[in-house]
Amino acid sequence: MRYITIALSKGRLAKKALEMFEHIGITCEEMKDEKTRKLIFTNEQLGLKFFLAKPSDVPTYVEYGAADIGIVGKDTILEEGRKLYEVLDLNTGKCKMCVCGPQSAKDKLQHHELIRVATKYPNIAKDYFYNKKHQTVEIIKLNGSVELAPIVGLSEVIVDIVETGATLKENGLSVLEEVCPLSARMVVNQVSMKMENERINTIIMDLRNYLQYGGSI
Ligand code: PRP
Repeated sequence: MRYITIALSKGRLAKKALEMFEHIGITCEEMKDEKTRKLIFTNEQLGLKFFLAKPSDVPTYVEYGAADIGIVGKDTILEEGRKLYEVLDLNTGKCKMCVCGPQSAKDKLQHHELIRVATKYPNIAKDYFYNKKHQTVEIIKLNGSVELAPIVGLSEVIVDIVETGATLKENGLSVLEEVCPLSARMVVNQVSMKMENERINTIIMDLRNYLQYGGSI
């Protein structure tokens, strides 16, 4: 039996995903040791391997088949645009991708002015403004603390994740437009889905049943 390899997004989501796998009988004791510097963990009985990767790299591992399955946020799936199957909404890590800024930017958005948009998600921003809104904008890629951009005059608006809205509020910004809802998803390599259909489908069905009957992660 060949190993099925599962790539988890490092951080909070990995912890939640492991709890969820435990509920369907897939455990990986080795991985719970928070001090370990090991990168890959094996459950020999089940023929499974787990590894932790930077969230934005998870779709890459899955597209190339280095991982059969990935657990990753919809934001990353959309931004990376990799070829893979998105098979399950895990209903956790729920938030929204939004266009945000000071209220004064609302008019500029409505009048389709040539504005600057700062974001960690240039592909999502491009798709939203160019393909959905048909508005020409200048997109500026940042790597974090994106809320700073409109405050210091780098851009008129941002495209960013809003969860509780606290970061926006504390910085005098608000949601101006909603781009799309987000949550954690399970993704599968397209070849693995065919070659290991039975084993992968069992995992999907077990998780779907667990989530459907009140289980949460
Ligand atoms: C994310 C996001 C927002 C914030 C939203 O940032 O980019 O800044 O969380 O959460 P809230 O609506 O609950 O305030 P993250 O903490 O991932 O760090 P970053 O600034 O490096 O993107």
